[in-house]
Amino acid sequence: MNPSILQFENVSYTYPGVHKPAIVDLTLAIPARTKTAILGHNGCGKSTLLLLADGLYRCDTGLIYWQGEPLQYQARSLNQWRQRIGLAFQDPEQQLVAATVAEDISYGLCNLQLSQAEIAQRLQQTLLDFNLQELANQPLHYLSLGQKRRVALAGVMALKPELLLLDEPTAYLDRLQTRHLMQELDRIYHHGTTIVMATHDLDLAYTWADWVIVLHEGRSLMSASADRVFNNVALLEQLELGMPTLLEIWNALPMALRDRQNPPKTVAQLRSLWCNISQV
Ligand SMILES: Nc1ncnc2c1ncn2[C@@H]1O[C@H](COP(=O)(O)OP(=O)(O)OP(=O)(O)O)[C@@H](O)[C@H]1O
Ligand SMILES: [Mg+2]
Repeated sequence: MNPSILQFENVSYTYPGVHKPAIVDLTLAIPARTKTAILGHNGCGKSTLLLLADGLYRCDTGLIYWQGEPLQYQARSLNQWRQRIGLAFQDPEQQLVAATVAEDISYGLCNLQLSQAEIAQRLQQTLLDFNLQELANQPLHYLSLGQKRRVALAGVMALKPELLLLDEPTAYLDRLQTRHLMQELDRIYHHGTTIVMATHDLDLAYTWADWVIVLHEGRSLMSASADRVFNNVALLEQLELGMPTLLEIWNALPMALRDRQNPPKTVAQLRSLWCNISQV
């Protein structure tokens, strides 16, 4: 496992006026330069965990560390914290602040105190990367939900954070936009960004993630390499999280055929494994 970029140590959090805590004595580490998926049922605490990680909520107890340095909640420290960590909210409506697409993306960039030339260059590049050029001057309230989602993601990714937290980033996106987003995530991952994604899309998590955190009722039930988590069929079944489709197909093949082979992560890998098996 890579050294951790972000750590939670015995973190608990209860929403004001609510009896049951949303996050309970949570200790976990996000390994640097990995693609981490957070899995778990509705209400298990995924969004709360991400909001705590970004410093938007303050832990009741426990500490959060960035490479060993604890999160402090004074304005200046928080500002610095949020320059390293970018969070795309589950609900894009909560993220968008300006009148038009271009203004919204520029807004975050202006807060980074970049030069006008750098802001203009990053804005154009972001509009291009997210296929938003035609919508650049559209008022945000004219956009569809999927388009708003793309603008919110674009706005966060334009800031080039070291750690990118994405809350259900593919919700409302069609297959084409999901593919574009995943290509964009691959690109920034290869430039050294650590990415954490809360998702209900098990197939996407299976193909994409190399580290997985399974949350249940505010607690971490497992935090391990994706291979270990997806091999733990008993846990996935016990939690009724389901199985990735590819793994289900693979496990349905006779054991003699699967013997000593790693399960495929993509359809292309399944095809190639199947070709090898058929030739034997
Ligand atoms: N603003 C809030 N006030 C009070 N309780 C809240 C609030 N937001 C979330 N909760 C509660 O905290 C718990 C964790 O919620 P959270 O939104 O983190 O779950 P989640 O895993 O992100 O769920 P989902 O998969 O539906 O997005 C739930 O029990 C939820 O009802
Ligand atoms: Mg959520």
